[in-house]
Amino acid sequence: MIIINTIEELQIELNAHRQDGKRIGFVPTMGNLHDGHLSLVEVAKTKSDIVVVSLFVNPTQFGPNEDFDSYPRTLEADCEKLESKGADIVFAPATEEVYPKWPNITSVHVAQLGNNHCGASRPGHFDGVTTVVSKLFNMVRPDCAIFGEKDFQQIAIIRRMVSDLNFPIEIIGAPIIREKNGLAMSSRNGYLSTEEKDHASHLQKTLQWAKSEIKNGCTDFRQLEIEANQKIEALGFVPDYFNITNQETLALAESCDKDLVILLASFMGKVRLIDNIQI
Ligand code: PAJ
Repeated sequence: MIIINTIEELQIELNAHRQDGKRIGFVPTMGNLHDGHLSLVEVAKTKSDIVVVSLFVNPTQFGPNEDFDSYPRTLEADCEKLESKGADIVFAPATEEVYPKWPNITSVHVAQLGNNHCGASRPGHFDGVTTVVSKLFNMVRPDCAIFGEKDFQQIAIIRRMVSDLNFPIEIIGAPIIREKNGLAMSSRNGYLSTEEKDHASHLQKTLQWAKSEIKNGCTDFRQLEIEANQKIEALGFVPDYFNITNQETLALAESCDKDLVILLASFMGKVRLIDNIQI
């Protein structure tokens, strides 16, 4: 496995692989890797010959009062994990390499899909994500890229961006990897104590409860959302949103919609956790 910090070096390396007819798979991350990220590397290995993983904490997707400065940067441990999973190239650029002309005055904005749920709570977040992912796509020029369904809204936005802007890249979704107790793995779980992690597993239980209500015939989704938020609040979380949505449009679901996804975000203290369940 090689570690590369510059775009020029990355392109020399990848051009050689491309000339050899190799298929390039890409896993973008912000580092501080856990088994959720590593599962994406496993998927990438089955879909491509050369796996590139980027480690870049992207400043433009953090709001002014969010955790950009304290976001854990663990390059050495990340590289060890990636090597053991068989990644071929780690791309870990400095901020100036990705944003040489700061501030960026060009950005990629995906309308509608980014307006609600996390987009409503984190203004500008998805523009930061789509802009950096576009930049990384142009740097790596992969044949396929793997994203986790943990960030359901993110992958929906990226799929639409790739389709609207004709990026010649196959987007592959990978399932959510969870702790034994059901809590969705996240770099931000590191901010929680062991007891808090145990307690946070109730979020997934609430999603499962709502899913079973729907499976049992409940069609009053707005009432179900209210009840779910009450449950979450009673457990000591501060709910951000609990939205039963149409899987494709991410609009609030109507009773006639077939493929649903419930999206949730809740605060445990200062830590914002997200999760979802497909129906
Ligand atoms: P990050 O939060 O580091 O996540 C990188 C990738 O790992 C994303 O595709 C995310 O959905 C996936 N992932 C995280 N936790 C997961 C879990 N428990 N199970 C499965 N997949 C999981 O998402 C980002 O970084 C950034 O927004 C990025 C796309 C890199 C752009 O900066």
